[in-house]
Amino acid sequence: MKRKVISTILAAVMAATTFMAVPAMAENDFADKKVGICMYTFADNFMTLYRTELERYLVEKGFDKANIQILDGNNDQATQSGQINNLISDKVDVLIINMVTPLTAEDVTDRAVEAGIPLVYINREPSEEEEARWAENNWDVTYVGADARQSGTMQGEIIVDLGLDTVDLNGNGKVDYVMIEGDPENVDAQFRTEFSIKALTDAGLEVNAIMDEIGMWDQTNGYSIANQALASNGADIEVIFCNNDAMALGALEAIEGAGRKVGEDIFLVGVDALVEALNDVIEGRMTGTVFNDHIAQAQGAADAAINYITGAGNEHYIGCDYVKATAENAADILALLTE
Ligand code: BGC
Repeated sequence: MKRKVISTILAAVMAATTFMAVPAMAENDFADKKVGICMYTFADNFMTLYRTELERYLVEKGFDKANIQILDGNNDQATQSGQINNLISDKVDVLIINMVTPLTAEDVTDRAVEAGIPLVYINREPSEEEEARWAENNWDVTYVGADARQSGTMQGEIIVDLGLDTVDLNGNGKVDYVMIEGDPENVDAQFRTEFSIKALTDAGLEVNAIMDEIGMWDQTNGYSIANQALASNGADIEVIFCNNDAMALGALEAIEGAGRKVGEDIFLVGVDALVEALNDVIEGRMTGTVFNDHIAQAQGAADAAINYITGAGNEHYIGCDYVKATAENAADILALLTE
């Protein structure tokens, strides 16, 4: 399948280029176009940044805010499926969907195709078989997102780069770690869990999983899991891997509450590069994170929607690279996000 890659804002700034160009069309041509957007939940730190940028950018491109419907799936697939039906009955011009359960994408695709409405999936990637159907049938359906394998690998590399001597605080020759996972149905969680550890073993390090729990991407869960791990196996924990920053921020609170100090007697990595996490990396309270570029992804999704509306069309997979964020470059990423 042909794949297209969008630049991260970092790469775009470094190369002094602008974002992917959208075919020329007078700004106002989109003013009467209706966009239906479904988010898996509004209660997710990362997806909140994403949806804010998505709406801002669509308005910048000439869409009328009143014609952009953004719906909260409340983390419930039945609720979201009802919302998708309503948007289809409403005859929106394009759908942008962050699935609650990507496993049900096939049914959503069928409904959109039958109604003749182009569809852009975001953030939660449908299965390979599902993506293959879009290409085989030449449907106006695409996925915009990042490959979570890369983010997991980068998390592992951040620890590998410290060297075993630094990380192996108890001197048992292994990296003793706790893994705090996002939603296990989501490939982002599956791949980050697998590939962060694979990066360690690929580098020849031995590993020992002290605890591996599901935190569902949520900060409070990140706190409770880390708190419990530190209370029961505290002394042996050398690294806490979190599938996202929200859970890492929770874990940090537990680490500091237990009187431990990141960088001295424990290491902590997340994914997303939330502003709060970047500040923690700069202050040395987090070892590192991985920038999940919500700006490039939101703009990429909006551009894909525009390409369907104009008839330009899209590849069936539009990818975006992650960027490792450590003390060395966290301030640069923060500057881009807060400028
Ligand atoms: C982000 C998480 C977020 C999840 C939602 C992931 O790519 O890293 O922070 O909770 O997407 O699906």
